[in-house]
Amino acid sequence: MSTPTTERLSLRETGPDELALAATVHASAFGRDEEARLPMAIVAEGHEVLSVAAEIDGFIVAHALFSPLGGPEGAWALGPVAVAPDHQGGGIGSALVGFGLQRARERGARSVFVLGEPSFYGRFGFSAEKARGAWVPWRGEMFQALELVPDALVGWSGALRYPHAFGADEVDSGEPFRS
Ligand SMILES: CC(C)(COP(=O)(O)OP(=O)(O)OC[C@H]1O[C@@H](n2cnc3c(N)ncnc32)[C@H](O)[C@@H]1OP(=O)(O)O)[C@@H](O)C(=O)NCCC(=O)NCCS
Repeated sequence: MSTPTTERLSLRETGPDELALAATVHASAFGRDEEARLPMAIVAEGHEVLSVAAEIDGFIVAHALFSPLGGPEGAWALGPVAVAPDHQGGGIGSALVGFGLQRARERGARSVFVLGEPSFYGRFGFSAEKARGAWVPWRGEMFQALELVPDALVGWSGALRYPHAFGADEVDSGEPFRS
């Protein structure tokens, strides 16, 4: 795992009033608006979220959002996650996700689900295998889970309900299926 190259980096939680700033990071990293709008839409639905950011010299250069899921007790979603293009590949994304997972654990999260690159999320212990019990509207190796509490997902199987803003309930209006 790479280490952040700058000593000026700081990691912290952000408030809802900073999500508009964070949106610019998502828009530049993803090159589109969907992920940029997502954090504010989730908060607008009334969900309690955990929002974390990496700053350099007081400027937000990376942002990640955790939000609650319906399903197994203490399950949270991670996403979107983005590092501004000029700062990618220097360890900031890894540091931020690690920080966020630690805060999530302190807040009582027992498991975290993510849709993303296994080569990035595998370093934290996320695996598609752990997510197998979830009934979700997408399939494949990119849908992964991490147990923050050992065996938190063992024996659980059922529908995983995302905040509406994720659009999960629009992707497949039929029976939920396993990843
Ligand atoms: C993905 C992202 C959050 C990673 O943050 P980052 O600060 O660039 O990543 P880090 O420097 O901490 O880690 C880089 C490591 O992750 C891997 N990695 C980074 N981005 C990756 C990606 N999109 N796919 C696969 N692996 C990736 C690198 O190979 C590198 O591995 P190494 O440590 O073994 O060399 C960032 O690059 C980003 O915002 N990308 C565009 C938006 C995006 O795709 N977000 C979805 C996240 S899945």
